[in-house]
Amino acid sequence: MAEKLIIFDTTLRDGEQSPGASMTKEEKLRIAKQLEKLRVDVIEAGFAASSNGDYEAVRAIAGAVKESIVCSLARANDRDIQRAFDAVEPAPRKRVHTFIATSALHMEKKLRMTPEQVHEQARLAVRYARNLIDDVEFSPEDGYRSDMDFLCRILETAIKEGATTINVPDTVGYAVPELYGHFMKTLRERIPNSDKAVWSVHCHNDLGMAVANSLAGVHIGGCRQVECTINGLGERAGNTSLEEVVMAVRTRRDFFKLDVGVDISQIVPTSRLVAGITGFVVQPNKAVVGANAFAHASGIHQDGVLKARDTYEIMKAEDVGWSANKIVLGKLSGRNAFKQRLQELGIELESEVEVNAAFQRFKDLADRKSDIFDEDIHALVSDQGVHHDSDEQYQLVSMAQHSETGEMPHASVTMIIDGKEATSESDGNGPVDATLKAIEAKANSGAELLLYSVNAITTGTESQGEVTVRLAKAGRIVNGVGADPDIVVASAKAYLNALNRLQSRARVNPQTGTP
Ligand code: KIV
Ligand code: ZN
Repeated sequence: MAEKLIIFDTTLRDGEQSPGASMTKEEKLRIAKQLEKLRVDVIEAGFAASSNGDYEAVRAIAGAVKESIVCSLARANDRDIQRAFDAVEPAPRKRVHTFIATSALHMEKKLRMTPEQVHEQARLAVRYARNLIDDVEFSPEDGYRSDMDFLCRILETAIKEGATTINVPDTVGYAVPELYGHFMKTLRERIPNSDKAVWSVHCHNDLGMAVANSLAGVHIGGCRQVECTINGLGERAGNTSLEEVVMAVRTRRDFFKLDVGVDISQIVPTSRLVAGITGFVVQPNKAVVGANAFAHASGIHQDGVLKARDTYEIMKAEDVGWSANKIVLGKLSGRNAFKQRLQELGIELESEVEVNAAFQRFKDLADRKSDIFDEDIHALVSDQGVHHDSDEQYQLVSMAQHSETGEMPHASVTMIIDGKEATSESDGNGPVDATLKAIEAKANSGAELLLYSVNAITTGTESQGEVTVRLAKAGRIVNGVGADPDIVVASAKAYLNALNRLQSRARVNPQTGTP
């Protein structure tokens, strides 16, 4: 039997640290349930000490996930570790992951601590965690840029204190595959008690080598856990992409000789769910989950694929879940069929009132669009969560635009702002521009628009358009998402969603300590 490669998903923690990717508790819960369906081994559900909201989200995930290990990140201090433990406590399988920076640069400039102080703090942190829980992971942040002798000492201590997993991050994405692989191999060879822990890789993608570095850590370094995120979501250029690592190890099993427990048929549905919720759209040429990943545009390739699939295909689209794009419901589907589909998709609405509201929205959509796909259902539930909460400051009531060749487009938008109805109008160089200007004229947010993008949720011109709007204000960046068959309406929803998110609490980044 081959050894197993542990897949540690950190979409909900490291991925969420990406500016604009922050999610609500309900959104995180939906993703966690889907990650469990994907059968990842570990779900890093968040950084519980960051805020009450984060604590509640981790605890809700710990209460809902039964198969995967639920983990929370904690800085190397008693308060963070206790908070992390309390949050994961309801989970049948749980882990606390504690970290402290170990590179000379981070210790001196960020922590303002001597190496001896850092060493001692790591010892006490792991000891404290092990008194609470058996499964403890320790990470030396910026490990790859740390002094080898110091790293060996601190990791040996962490293992002596009972750390069961040692994870060595390339925090800034500086590594090169061969060097990182040999770095991990040297650590494991030099640390006398290294065989008492599982070794893990955690690579960032600043030089586009996160997946290659992780795989080198596995192949050369002998590591047996990979930390990764769906779609490679993460700060800056992102993290190691889960789907790429899993498919590389599966497709090249002849080389890696390792097993992964992931249910690969859930890869594409998970990718879509994460993209839909966060508004971080997947680039078309992204390996495995990009829209073009299995499209054979050139005539020569098409001919080859028609004659024998393996002439140009090393993986099958349907194996990773591309066939999931199927009609599931239509205009005549009843409430029970709709409810059952929600259940199959792992979507739990809190009350019958919410189910009724979602069903009504489904009916409205089915009146305008004959075939309803899983992706449409996910989008309408997300939409309901983010646009119909009566606590929200901005809600869309109705809108209209006029555009005609040779004339300046004009839009009128009626919204509820802080419980009061208001109508606003504006011209613009297109209907979307006019609509967003009309909203901003009333909202007066002063936010800067960093990104506007439209994506078709499924295929064909009947598809709903999914719009992402990224706004920045006072150092905060948020993404708003909206879906509708009318892309101007989707744009208004996305803009209002982003405005609402600007009002929500800021969370602390565990590594920089800033919101
Ligand atoms: O990149 C990093 O160093 C991290 C650690 C906190 C594990 O995410
Ligand atoms: Zn990281």
